[in-house]
Order: sequence, then C-alpha cells, then structure tokens
Amino acid sequence: MFSTFKCQIFLTLICIALCYEPTKEDLKCFNDFETEMKCSLSSERLQNCSGHKLNITHPVSNMFEKYTCIFERNHHSDNCECNITVEGFVLTEIFNTTLLEGSNVLLYKTFVTSDFIKPKSPVLSVQKFENGNFNVTWDDQYEKHFFESLRINLTYGIKGGHKNVRKMIYDI
Ligand SMILES: *[C@@H]1O[C@H](CO)[C@@H](O)[C@H](O)[C@H]1NC(C)=O
Ligand SMILES: *[C@@H]1O[C@H](CO)[C@@H](O)[C@H](O)[C@H]1NC(C)=O
Ligand SMILES: *[C@@H]1O[C@H](CO)[C@@H](O)[C@H](O)[C@H]1NC(C)=O
Ligand SMILES: *[C@@H]1O[C@H](CO)[C@@H](O)[C@H](O)[C@H]1NC(C)=O
Ligand SMILES: *[C@@H]1O[C@H](CO)[C@@H](O)[C@H](O)[C@H]1NC(C)=O
Ligand SMILES: *[C@@H]1O[C@H](CO)[C@@H](O)[C@H](O)[C@H]1NC(C)=O
Repeated sequence: MFSTFKCQIFLTLICIALCYEPTKEDLKCFNDFETEMKCSLSSERLQNCSGHKLNITHPVSNMFEKYTCIFERNHHSDNCECNITVEGFVLTEIFNTTLLEGSNVLLYKTFVTSDFIKPKSPVLSVQKFENGNFNVTWDDQYEKHFFESLRINLTYGIKGGHKNVRKMIYDI
C-alpha cells in the first residue's frame, strides 16, 4: 500500500519533468517556396509560449545562414507560432532546427525544403454576369513560376446548399 503511494508520487514527479515536454510531432513547419518559413508548436503540452524559440541553421553554398524564430501565442488557434524570412528556397536544401526553452534544448528536427511546402492561398475574384454565369479568376500570389505547376482544388456550389462541385485545375 505504502509503496504504491510512493510509486505514484514518483510517477507524478517524472510527469512534471517530462509530460510537458513537446515532442517532434508537436513542431510543424511550412515554407511557401518564396521567402517565408512558418512554424507552429501545438501548445497542449505547453503552458506558455514565451521563452520558446527555434534556432535554425540553413546551409547555403558552404556557409550557414542562422535564424532565430521566437514563438508567440496565436490568439486564434492557441498554438505557439513563429516565422522567419529567407532569401529563397531550393528544393533539396535542409533546415536544421533546435527547439529551445530558454537555453534548454528540447529537441532537434530536420526539414528538407521539398517536404514541407505549403503554397500561399490564392486570391479569388468572382464576376457575375446577367445570364447567371460567373467568371472566377484567381491570383496564385507567385511572381515567379512555381517549381512544378500548382494544382488547384476548386469547390463551388450554392451558398447554404448541400451539393458542391469539386474540380481539379492545373495552373499553367
Ligand atoms: C508566460 O511566461 C512569461 C515569462 O516567463 C510571463 O511573464 C507570463 O506571465 C506567462 N504567461 C502565462 C499566460 O502564464
Ligand atoms: C541559439 O541561437 C542563439 C543566437 O544565435 C545563440 O546565442 C545560442 O547559442 C543558440 N543555442 C543553441 C543551443 O544552439
Ligand atoms: C511573423 O512573426 C511576427 C513576430 O515575430 C509577427 O508580428 C507577424 O505577424 C508574423 N507574420 C505572419 C505572416 O505570421
Ligand atoms: C543537420 O541535421 C543532420 C541530421 O540530424 C545532421 O547530419 C547535420 O550535420 C546537421 N547540420 C547542421 C548544419 O547542423
Ligand atoms: C474573366 O475575367 C478575366 C480576368 O478579369 C478576363 O480576362 C476574362 O476575359 C473574363 N472572361 C469573360 C468571359 O468575361
Ligand atoms: C484535391 O482534390 C483531389 C481530388 O479530388 C484530392 O485527392 C486531394 O486530396 C485534394 N487536395 C486537397 C488539399 O484538398
């Protein structure tokens, strides 16, 4: 009986030390393949974003670019988020990240550019014609050509209706 109790105290102490440590799955990063890299740290295991940051090293032609990405709370999602601006992305380049709380290293995670691309959202514009047709156009927000053509999932339907039409479109 007594030893069970001691065991529980012991487990609780271990939990205080470890249960709030984020894991690799909690750290997610995306790049827009232009100039921005954004990371988020899901905060279920964190009580506080402040004090958490990412040290990022990025080898560029025999040199290392270093960045510090400081997490702040996102008031919409409750996640900790940070972003950095880079010169540009090359598909095969890597980003080594070190997650720190103060000066404590919590984890390391490596990202390869091609594996964590999330294109920017396109900006839609809709023009309605008298005959009931619509002209829908969008700006993909990329000045340069994307490395491979963007595939666009277009879903349309009547507002409040139950049937939507989905269409896959290949950007030129
Ligand atoms: C987060 O930590 C900072 C500094 O450690 C402190 O000033 C702030 O009050 C904390 N915020 C919350 C919500 O606990
Ligand atoms: C993280 O980056 C800061 C600023 O460049 C540096 O002072 C610190 O030593 C780095 N920490 C680790 C663990 O690499
Ligand atoms: C990037 O991070 C800064 C704070 O470091 C924040 O003010 C800004 O809103 C962030 N930008 C985006 C697009 O998330
Ligand atoms: C980046 O991480 C990889 C894999 O962990 C490692 O082999 C490599 O040496 C690291 N590079 C830098 C610059 O830290
Ligand atoms: C639809 O809009 C685009 C861009 O504004 C325009 O170039 C195109 O001619 C329009 N198509 C029709 C059928 O009006
Ligand atoms: C886009 O549509 C295709 C085919 O309908 C589907 O397989 C794919 O998962 C969709 N992608 C996204 C991001 O919704």
